[in-house]
Amino acid sequence: MLRPPGKGYGNGYHYEPHPHQQQQNGGSGPLIHKYRRGNRGRRSRFDYGDGSSSTRVSGPSDGEETPPPPPPCTDFDMAYFHSYAHVGIHEEMIKDRVRTETYRAAIMHHQQYIAGKVVLDVGCGTGILSIFCAQAGAKRVYAVDASDIAVQANEVVRANKLSDTVIVLHGRIEDVEIDEEVDVIISEWMGYMLLYESMLGSIITARDRWLKPGGLILPSDATLYIAPITQPDRYSESIEFWRNVYGIDMSAMLPLAKQCAFEEPSVETISGENVLTWPHVVKHVDCYTITRQELESVTTRFKFKSMMRAPFHGFAFWFDVEFSSPEIFSNDNNPPSSVIESPNEHPTNGSQRKKRVNPNEALVLSTAPEDPPTHWQQTLVYFYDPIEVEQDQQIEGAVTLSQSKENPRFMNIHLEYASGGRSFVKESVMR
Ligand SMILES: C[S@@+](CC[C@H](N)C(=O)[O-])C[C@H]1O[C@@H](n2cnc3c(N)ncnc32)[C@H](O)[C@@H]1O
Repeated sequence: MLRPPGKGYGNGYHYEPHPHQQQQNGGSGPLIHKYRRGNRGRRSRFDYGDGSSSTRVSGPSDGEETPPPPPPCTDFDMAYFHSYAHVGIHEEMIKDRVRTETYRAAIMHHQQYIAGKVVLDVGCGTGILSIFCAQAGAKRVYAVDASDIAVQANEVVRANKLSDTVIVLHGRIEDVEIDEEVDVIISEWMGYMLLYESMLGSIITARDRWLKPGGLILPSDATLYIAPITQPDRYSESIEFWRNVYGIDMSAMLPLAKQCAFEEPSVETISGENVLTWPHVVKHVDCYTITRQELESVTTRFKFKSMMRAPFHGFAFWFDVEFSSPEIFSNDNNPPSSVIESPNEHPTNGSQRKKRVNPNEALVLSTAPEDPPTHWQQTLVYFYDPIEVEQDQQIEGAVTLSQSKENPRFMNIHLEYASGGRSFVKESVMR
């Protein structure tokens, strides 16, 4: 979870760390157990351990296939990891009970896959998921984080007398060395509108390097949705307000107010009542098969029919993730038994919304407007001016989400939409 502009912790990339937050290992011994930067034989900027002999660099080829070099750690990545050194971001995530309790339930639900097994926690933060896995009986947990929060994770693990089980590695997953395959990969990698923050690529790296054939990934699936929304309260608070300010006509402020309020995506909580139709699936991610390339750009076409007469103010995005066991996916061509395709009137590329027949079959962490709120809320892309739609009026178009060239952790959102004979384009960047 990383905060976009104007929310909570500045832009999420630029914390000034509190002095007490600076690198303090509390004299508790080496944090980095094994660490190297790919196979280049030099240590990375993140590597601030005590230089103990357990830090390894690669030697000459030992006959094994050389893995591709890890993607470079850019200044943007450094700033990103720095933002995760702040306690506030972890506090917010952990206090999100929907999130944290669903992860804990998923871990306990999969105890048979975890007990006595080796687990890799990609982006362990404070170590909470690693500790849940240790409580579920894991033989060993590699808890990896590139942020300095790994220092605290190590302390937490030690204070809970779990140092024999949980091994905290302070480094990028792309750079650390783990000398064994793992049975389970767990990670909380989801950003706003699922793909913002681009952490999923790091789970792919971990999967391809260390997951045993038949191993478990938690979560197993993720789905991003889009739906048209009406949000008159927000519109009148930010825009209509200027029409009469203490009896003064300040309508001259309207263009600026619209630009400032609606240029960038906005993270807000809406309810099911704000949503004009069933949502459309923008992207389904199967964590066992997704590739980095697939994530660079995602495009889908949509066609909705408004279920009511209302001012149409923009589109909302949200996601859910599923924690399914591997045997549910018996065959790539068959969807998991827990889901069926809804009778969507306008199927596009098989991307209809999935509805669960029996919600007990797969644990789901949902950030949908109709479900209990989470710290992810929903991501809204507003129009500068609403479109009045009638009941059953069609809304169609396409959306492309692509990693920003400026910083791959940012996301470009290109929306084309048409309704009532008029068509529009809205470009925005989630930074
Ligand atoms: C959303 S937080 C989750 C923290 C913790 N797992 C939890 O559930 O509370 C993601 C964490 O992943 C770390 N992270 C992101 N990309 C990483 C990478 N490539 N290598 C190591 N750590 C990474 C971040 O520093 C951050 O602490």
